[in-house]
Amino acid sequence: MRVAILGVGTVGEQVAKILIQNAELISARSGKNITPVVGVVRNLNKKRDVNFELTDDINSVISRDDIDVFVELMGGVDEPYKIVSEILKRKKAVVTANKALLAYYRYELANMAGETPFGFEASVAGGIPIIKTLREGLSANDIQSIKGIINGTCNYILTSMMRDGANFSDVLKKAQDLGYAEADPTFDVGGFDAAHKLLILASLAYGINARPEDILIEGIERINDADIYFANDFGYTIKLLAIAKKTANGVELRVHPTLVPKDHMIAKVDGVMNAVSIVGNAVGETMYYGAGAGGAATASAVISDIIDIARGISSPMLGYKTQNAVSELKLLDKDEILTHYYIRLKVEDRLGVLACITNLMSQNSISIDSFLQTPNFDDGDMTTLFFTTHTSREADVKHVLALLRDQEFIKDEPFMMRIEQ
Ligand code: HSE
Repeated sequence: MRVAILGVGTVGEQVAKILIQNAELISARSGKNITPVVGVVRNLNKKRDVNFELTDDINSVISRDDIDVFVELMGGVDEPYKIVSEILKRKKAVVTANKALLAYYRYELANMAGETPFGFEASVAGGIPIIKTLREGLSANDIQSIKGIINGTCNYILTSMMRDGANFSDVLKKAQDLGYAEADPTFDVGGFDAAHKLLILASLAYGINARPEDILIEGIERINDADIYFANDFGYTIKLLAIAKKTANGVELRVHPTLVPKDHMIAKVDGVMNAVSIVGNAVGETMYYGAGAGGAATASAVISDIIDIARGISSPMLGYKTQNAVSELKLLDKDEILTHYYIRLKVEDRLGVLACITNLMSQNSISIDSFLQTPNFDDGDMTTLFFTTHTSREADVKHVLALLRDQEFIKDEPFMMRIEQ
């Protein structure tokens, strides 16, 4: 079987290398010899550690009849959509690691592909076979929830902040130097990369056709030393979680920094590693852990898709032969999310301030669960107040924060995080 690699960067190089290095095993497992025959690059002058034909003319490659599988590793959304559409029109198999492309166009691509194989194992959590897990391994289950640490950069940053008291910008710089972050790190720290991956998982679990704009996405940029102090003091760690949850009122899809009790399994996943916990109604909780990024780990997922194609294995791309069982499931409106909240307020430290805050909360159906004021965060005539709430409605919490923002005793933008119990 002949493979073209569109985009020979860190992952593309590893795809070619592993196909060659493990050729005998791969051939024994797939029943075919799988050979990388051509790679497309933007800059032909850049030195690459591969020994197959390279070209910068993508159109000449996608029209070739002697290629059986096209591996798209270009990145971006609109350009790869155009290219992949062309390939699918020619009924040629596609494998991609491109989560942004799928976050926007997975249903269009699934329609276009029809019976043509389309693999995207590498698009979520790199080396963890999470697509296969949801689509094949857990296909008997009604999925109750998915909670994932699926952005290694954020997990690396938050781990360093929690463990070593590192400061956000310094540790982001380090993550970039180590090559974990996306070209534009806003995609990582703003939660967008995790949201793209969550949308892919939500299609497999719930058949939900949502786009990034439709779901709640918050990043980790505003977490500071006071939040780290509170988390440590109250037995939590902070993780950027991607959450999909089936509730009586609809499917919650959200990505945000989250306070997670330290004894939860997912709280123990540190550094650049990824992990996904999935609860199915038959199987109970299952958890998957591994490298979410990096050339070799991502290539491992890409090649598993190529091997499936060689074996002739075909599952419905997004997990459903018909939408009957999931057609009733709707995305829950962001404002209707019900959870526990943490609120941090920097205020003037004077008579009546706390009473005014708690009044505003109670008038808006926010019930306080715990409260902390500590001299550690006194700052002249100001101090920081920390609250956690009982289960509250997202819209109510946002409304209270908007009201608080207008009080003259509030000295900084109020900050809120959600808590997973
Ligand atoms: N920037 C991503 C991460 C890479 O940090 O997890 C893998 O998608």
